[in-house]
Formats: sequence, structure tokens, C-alpha cells
Amino acid sequence: MAGGTRLASILLLSVFLFVRAQDDIREPPKILEPQSAKELFYDGNVDVTLPCRASGQPAPLYVWYWNGAPIESTNQAITYDPSNGSLTINGLTTREEGFYNCRAKNTFTNGMSAVAISHKTEVRRARIEPWDKDQDRTKTATEGNYVSIRCSDTLPKYYGPTTFKWYTVEGEDDLIEVEEDDRVFIDNKGTLHFTYVLRTDEQSNRYYSCAMSNVVEGKITLGGRTRLVVQKSDSIAEVKPALQFSTKLAGDGALTFKRNTEGHLECFFSGYVNDPGNEVPTIEWQDNAGNTIVSGTDSYTIESHGRVLKIASLVEADEKPYTCNARNRIGTAEGRMTLNVTSSPIWVKPLQSTTVPQGKDAVFHCEARSAAGEVPPDPPRWFKNGQRLDVSYDPNKFAFANEKRELRVKSAQKNTDIACFQCYVGNSVGEEFSDGCLNVILPIVITTKPPAVQTIEKGDIVNLTVVATADKLYPVAYKWQFNDITYERVSAPPHVIYDVNANLAYINTSDLTDQQMRDIRGVYRCEIYDEFETVLVDVKVRLKGDPVVIPVAEAGSGFWIIGLILGVILIALILIIVCCAVCRRKMQEGDYRVGRKETAAGLDPEKEIKDNEFKDLAKTGYDLTIKKRSAAFGFDTIPIIAEDDNESFGSEYGEEAMAFNEDGSFIGKYSQGKKL
Ligand SMILES: *[C@@H]1O[C@H](CO)[C@@H](O)[C@H](O)[C@H]1NC(C)=O
Ligand SMILES: *[C@@H]1O[C@H](CO)[C@@H](O)[C@H](O)[C@H]1NC(C)=O
Ligand SMILES: *[C@@H]1O[C@H](CO)[C@@H](O)[C@H](O)[C@H]1NC(C)=O
Repeated sequence: MAGGTRLASILLLSVFLFVRAQDDIREPPKILEPQSAKELFYDGNVDVTLPCRASGQPAPLYVWYWNGAPIESTNQAITYDPSNGSLTINGLTTREEGFYNCRAKNTFTNGMSAVAISHKTEVRRARIEPWDKDQDRTKTATEGNYVSIRCSDTLPKYYGPTTFKWYTVEGEDDLIEVEEDDRVFIDNKGTLHFTYVLRTDEQSNRYYSCAMSNVVEGKITLGGRTRLVVQKSDSIAEVKPALQFSTKLAGDGALTFKRNTEGHLECFFSGYVNDPGNEVPTIEWQDNAGNTIVSGTDSYTIESHGRVLKIASLVEADEKPYTCNARNRIGTAEGRMTLNVTSSPIWVKPLQSTTVPQGKDAVFHCEARSAAGEVPPDPPRWFKNGQRLDVSYDPNKFAFANEKRELRVKSAQKNTDIACFQCYVGNSVGEEFSDGCLNVILPIVITTKPPAVQTIEKGDIVNLTVVATADKLYPVAYKWQFNDITYERVSAPPHVIYDVNANLAYINTSDLTDQQMRDIRGVYRCEIYDEFETVLVDVKVRLKGDPVVIPVAEAGSGFWIIGLILGVILIALILIIVCCAVCRRKMQEGDYRVGRKETAAGLDPEKEIKDNEFKDLAKTGYDLTIKKRSAAFGFDTIPIIAEDDNESFGSEYGEEAMAFNEDGSFIGKYSQGKKL
């Protein structure tokens, strides 16, 4: 006996400790920086700092990963501070290049932890790799004709924004840049074009040399050299425009751009007329509807004497045909091309952090699509705190739906289920990543609640004190409703003494007049809410000796009572009929009593069967009646109890509803309120 008591108290204590243990504020990490995937280029030997910042309670600690593996503390070139999240590459060389991402992890008092993962940052040393230069070449042209000089058969690999330039060179270090003008153009493949070449372009003794210029590094790398020989012509013939180069002719790849990047379309025409100032054809761009594109409108920019159309931050709708039209005095020409806007998966619903009250399900979405007209992404891959989730998981806790695009965490518990989830979606163009955490908070629990019905007389105290507890992360707020008026914050219905700090609410009726006494009658509704939940507590106040009034407006409810009574009578009738039927049958099977005795003794199996048959029949009849009864009576009581997931509510309100059966209006209102 004493042992039992001890066990019980230990159990009680552990329940108490369990409740206390998770009473702390818990918030999974949320990565604030970096917010998106990045590609960063740095000059060689600079110190690179990558920040990682996350919120969370308790404050998270950070671990940096480099090309998928945690960075060892023994690594001297790459160091980071686990408590502030900042990573430093001490003097960047090509060795430290790669993909960096950080993980923010916080550990709760119960030892569980949540791990959020950042987007990846690609770090590169901006550079142009050594160039396998072609042999010196010679290009021969006739004055007045179109001529182009290719940059190189093979271009070196390069990292970081890089542009093509052309120089004329003599010796090692005599370089003169070839400037673009209305006659000269460098396309985005590096080729140098002359609309019509002149004798002066020959640049005797000098070579033409293509160069690549790295913007970050601020260095140029020269490619192979070409000697240009221009044969003299007596007079330059007038020619109408002809398309010599366009991004379409440069190959399909040149017309494919990723969404949100800059689209770049080029056309180059030859042509000449002997009209000083207008020798070169003019170029105009049109969209697929035949509208002329004006530079500076929408996201369009036209550059390089009309040869380049740039479209800032491409959207899928930019995937359409474009036309460049060239014109001079003696003719026209056109180039057509269709821009292809492609994309790694585009989020429809990325993972989003969510907070649920304990016991509720949490749902995460990972939905993405491909660019219009392209192959849809593969099903997402899921991770929990960085550990693969969709290969083995507890089906009682997690459920996937909609081809893995939805993850449900069932009946989330504060003690075990606070975690971060990651999902990856890929298509032929690339992969996208999304991170979202689940926080679970303690639900609102009413700890103090006044009697639901208070019948009072002058001098009584009407106790309206409602006290609730909830998760400390989201403290609850209270508001009152009385006679269709809502009282927020510190305000309260008339005559109610409301002390928000001491959590007291009551009416002292000692000094109220008779009229005031009549005015305080009614239903006081206390709404207890936080960001995620609302709980209602209703207190009905009536005066002693008040007659029970069924308002005319609520006549419908009165009829409902009559219906209920009729229903009860009907059920009674059915009961009687069933009873009669049972009795009749009993009488017909005269050996019933004997049979039962025999059954009990296990003597007559045949009779046993018959007997069972009979019992089953009687049982169903009985069940049926009960069901009908509860259907009729339960109309008001069932919704109230069923909606109650809070133990402190059930019985009291059930009783109260029965107690107010005569007052249909009140029951109706109350049930409605509970469903909110
Ligand atoms: C655009 O480019 C993507 C990626 O290379 C390719 O899958 C798609 O078929 C292209 N679309 C068109 C219309 O050419
Ligand atoms: C009202 O009731 C609560 C709990 O039922 C009690 O703690 C409180 O002291 C009461 N207040 C008054 C003014 O009677
Ligand atoms: C109610 O009001 C009367 C008269 O003002 C006062 O004597 C009494 O102490 C009050 N009761 C409470 C519980 O405040």
C-alpha cells in the first residue's frame, strides 16, 4: 500500500517535471543570412568573409560545410567562429574554391536539437586560365567588303565576369585597343566584325589580337594574333544590308538564358551606301507582335549601334521570337530568333517555417515547377535536420502526400518534434533548395474559470476571473464580449472590475441600483487567444427570481423543444413496441428459460445456437434504441463535448447545456461559439 503511494507520487512528480521541462521557450533556428544561393568571385589572395546568421532560442551554434563536408578545426586556410557564424578564408587561392554552406543548430533543454541549413555560396577566384594560343594567322580582304576575325578556336576557361576586347599589337607591350563604332563590332563570341573594311584597317606591321578581360581581377589575357591584309579597291560599291551574324547563327545555346538573368540578342549586318554619316545600315528590333522595341522601355536596352538587344531579368513571357531589321537607302534585311528562357525549378510553394500548438498536425509543402513547356522537376528529396528523411522514417509521425510534395508531421509534440526540414528539387537545368522549421508550442490551457452560470442577487460578487496558461513564446491575450460589444486589452463590460495584472475580473453588486442589476444580466464571453488558437469561456449571469423567458424571436428554438419532446415520446413508443415483440417471441419460444440454463451448463449445443441467435437479435434491437435516443438528446450536448479537446471543459459545459434546456437561445449561441 505504502509502496503504491510512493510509486504514485514518483509518477506524479515525473509528470510534473515533464510538464515543467518543456515549459521553456523553444524556437528552432531560422537562417537570416545568406538568404539565397550565390556565386561570388574574388581576386586572388584576398581574405574572404562569409557570414551566417540565424535566430532561434536558445541561440544556435554554427557549423560550416565545404563541398558537402564539415570544415575541420585543423584547417588553417578556412576558419569560422561557431558562435557567431562568420567564416574566413585566409588569402583565397584556387584550393579553397567550392561550395560553402552553414548549418545553424540549437539544442533544447531535453537534448533534442533542430538544424537549419543555409543556401550554398559558390566561391571562385576570378581568373582566366592559361590560353592555348593559335598560330599567327593572316586574313585577306578587299576594301569595302564585310570582314570578320575570329577570336580563337579554343577559349580558355574563365571565372567571374569576363569580356572580349581587341587590340592591335606590335612587339610585346605596344597595345592599342580597337574601339567599337558604327562600322566595327565585337560580338558575344569574341569575333571582330567590320561592316565594310578600309585600307586603314590593315594597320601595317601590327597584329590584331583578341583578349579576354576579367572584370574582378582587372587583368587582360591576350589570345592568338591575326595579320589583316586589305586589298585596295578603286571605289567602294554600294551594297544593301545582309545578315552576317546573329545569336541564332551562333548556335542554339547562345539563345538560351536562365530566368532572372539578362537576355542578350545580337545581329550584325554588312552593307554600305555612299552617304556620308549614313554609310552603315540602321537596325531596328521588333517583338513577335511586330511592335518596334524602344530602348529604355520595359526591360529593354538597345546598344552597340542597334546590334545588341538586352532584356533585363528575363521572365518566361520573354520566351518569344524577336526580329532585327536592317535598312539602308538601297535595301533591307532581317534576322529572326527565338529566345529560350529556361530555369531550374521555380517555387510554387517552398518549405515554410510553421508553428503549431502541441497535438496538431503540421504540413510542409515543397512544390516547384519547370519553366513553361519544359520537363517537370523530379519528386523532391526530403531531409530532417540535414538527415535524409524519405528513405526511412516513422510512418506514425510522418506522412508524405502528393508525390512527396507534401510532408505531414502528425500530432506535433513540443518535446520531440521541433526540427527543421529541407527539400531539394531538381530538373535538367539545376536544383533548388528550401529549408523550413517546425516549432511546437504548448496549447492554451484554462487554469481558472468561474462557474458557467451564476444566479445572483444584490450584494453578491459575480466572479468572472479567467486565467489561462500558454507557451511562453506566444503569451495569451484576453478580450471580453458582452451584449455584442467587444472589450479589448484593459477594457471590460460595464461594472466589471478588471485587473489585468492580477488577472481578476468580477462585478461587485453591493452598490448597484435595481436597473444596473438588470443590466448586468447576460452572457459574458472571455476570448483567450494567441497567434494560433482561440479559446472561449462563457459565463451566464442571471438574477435570482428571474422568470425564464423564451424570447419571441427565438420561437424557432421553442418549436425545437416541442420536437424534442415528440421525439422522446416516439422513442418511448418504439421501446414499448420492441419490448412487446421481445415478450411475444419469448412466449413463442417457451423453452427459453430452460435453454439458458442449459447453455450456462454447456449441455445442449443446438439450443445454444438458437439462444445466441435470440440474444443477438435482442441486442441489436436494444442498440438501435440507444442510438436513436442519443441522436435525439445529443443534438445539443454532443457538439459541445466533441469540440472539447481540453479536459477542463467537458463535464461542466455538458451539464450546463442540459440545465438550460428550456432556454433554447442560449444553447444555440453557445454551441456556435465553441465551434469557432
Ligand atoms: C530551352 O532550353 C532548355 C534547357 O536547355 C531545353 O530543355 C528546352 O527544350 C529549350 N526550349 C526550347 C523551346 O528550345
Ligand atoms: C473567482 O474564482 C477563482 C477560481 O474559481 C478564485 O481564484 C478567485 O479568488 C475568485 N475571485 C473572487 C473575487 O471571488
Ligand atoms: C463590494 O462593495 C462593497 C461596498 O462598496 C464593499 O464593502 C465590499 O468590500 C466590496 N467587495 C469586494 C469583494 O470588493
